[in-house]
Amino acid sequence: MQLGKEILYLSYADVAAVGPNMAETISIVEGAFRDKGQGVTQLPAKTALHPLDEDAFIHAMPAWVPSSRAAGVKWVSGYPLNQPKGLPYITGLLILNDPDTGIPIAVMDCAWITAQRTGAVSGLAARHLAPRGAKTAALLGAGVQGRTQVRALATEVKSLREVQVFDPRPEAAEALIAELGAEFPELSLLAAAGPAEAVRGADIVVSAGPILKHPHPIIEHGWLQPGCLGLPVDFDAMWTGAALHLDHYLVDDMGQYRFYEQQGFFSGAPEPAGDLGDLLAGRCRGRESDSERIISMNLGVAIADMPTARLVYDRALAAGKGRVLPL
Ligand SMILES: NC(=O)c1ccc[n+]([C@@H]2O[C@H](COP(=O)([O-])OP(=O)(O)OC[C@H]3O[C@@H](n4cnc5c(N)ncnc54)[C@H](O)[C@@H]3O)[C@@H](O)[C@H]2O)c1
Repeated sequence: MQLGKEILYLSYADVAAVGPNMAETISIVEGAFRDKGQGVTQLPAKTALHPLDEDAFIHAMPAWVPSSRAAGVKWVSGYPLNQPKGLPYITGLLILNDPDTGIPIAVMDCAWITAQRTGAVSGLAARHLAPRGAKTAALLGAGVQGRTQVRALATEVKSLREVQVFDPRPEAAEALIAELGAEFPELSLLAAAGPAEAVRGADIVVSAGPILKHPHPIIEHGWLQPGCLGLPVDFDAMWTGAALHLDHYLVDDMGQYRFYEQQGFFSGAPEPAGDLGDLLAGRCRGRESDSERIISMNLGVAIADMPTARLVYDRALAAGKGRVLPL
């Protein structure tokens, strides 16, 4: 590869072929959040377009993570109405830059990285905030993110034995159960009759349905048992304001959170105690008891994407994957 003359193009299949496994990805995102906790990352708020449909978004997500020398931008779309068309909700591209010269070195599909790192951030939150010996999880939303959420919990929470899966499309829950059941034979994956049946009694609750500007939240305060950890990846779409008022409320990045608050999200939520960078830097407390109910509201940050993309790029170069294109 000649810097300034060529870039590497990586398709979804190229990225998936060399991408880090879940345990590696959790370590990568932990490194990024440690950098963030030390104040050395650069993570401007997302720039958002909402063409034609207010629930659809196209986001520009730049970041610089010094410990992995990862600089770049993700241009990612989320279109809830793609599903009936047989198209993915999340699609996009990521541009990686050489940090020394600023020159672009790669363009790659970002859907695999987005799903993998979103799972990994939940895995990281579970590492630091899950109740001891967590055995059961609930998953609401059995789509692309749902899969990596379960992979991350199965990887990180060694005591996990059962996942109750609810999706209003029963065929989606069944497909996820069949796929992940083969991957994690030690896990009992069960289709729940409804969201309450999934959430009641769960040690960890993940929600991964569509993000909606005017949501119809379903998760009620009383469904959440003492000690549980809530991990929404779909903002407050499924959580009533009361359900967010537990004992401790964290976010992945305060700057992004404020940005979305200004847009009208999280109106019923409590004031966050801090973000995952603060937690890893010791500026914000973690879990203090087995009965505490905690939420980590992880909105998705580019500091999790860029180091993952940098590793994908390095491995793809070494493995001869992708296509070298003229710049
Ligand atoms: N926080 C982050 O970092 C991050 C990153 C990527 C995607 N996301 C968000 O994650 C969500 C899921 O994305 P995806 O790629 O998995 O989409 P997807 O379309 O593959 O899956 C979404 C699933 O949710 C189901 N669903 C719809 N309404 C539901 C309800 N009321 N209860 C339970 N399930 C319901 C759908 O049937 C579908 O199976 C989206 O909101 C997306 O914007 C967040």
